[in-house]
Amino acid sequence: MRIFLIAALCLAVPPGFAQTSSPPSRLGLCAACHGETGQAHMPGVPNLAGQRLDYLRDALQQYRDGRRNVPVMRAAIGPLNDAELDALARWYSVQVAAPPQVRS
Ligand code: HEC
Repeated sequence: MRIFLIAALCLAVPPGFAQTSSPPSRLGLCAACHGETGQAHMPGVPNLAGQRLDYLRDALQQYRDGRRNVPVMRAAIGPLNDAELDALARWYSVQVAAPPQVRS
């Protein structure tokens, strides 16, 4: 019986599930430009949905340390700590990218 309970608990909470299932607490800081699901709302802002996790992490690190010196992004991530940036990178990496738009 005890083994059954432990197995049931393991199935109920798969590893990593908590990090990707609910939106990160700081998503509101990014969503105005990048959208909650990584489809950008504004011209000139990149879509992030489905981007590789390692690339997103690296890009955020580059804004943080100034290798990418883009004031709008440096200001956006200024108040965030590494764990918060990591949660945002994970969130955007698991979103499903929309099909490309046909432009005339
Ligand atoms: C005011 C609009 C704005 C806000 C708010 C904003 N971004 Fe951005 N973001 C941009 C723009 C514009 C770029 C393109 C900058 C460049 O040329 O490097 C960008 C680039 C990025 C990139 C690099 C994408 C790539 O393909 O290289 C990542 C990752 C990113 N933003 C994540 C975030 C996260 C996470 C937040 C919230 C903490 C956020 N952004 C908030 C406008 C914004």
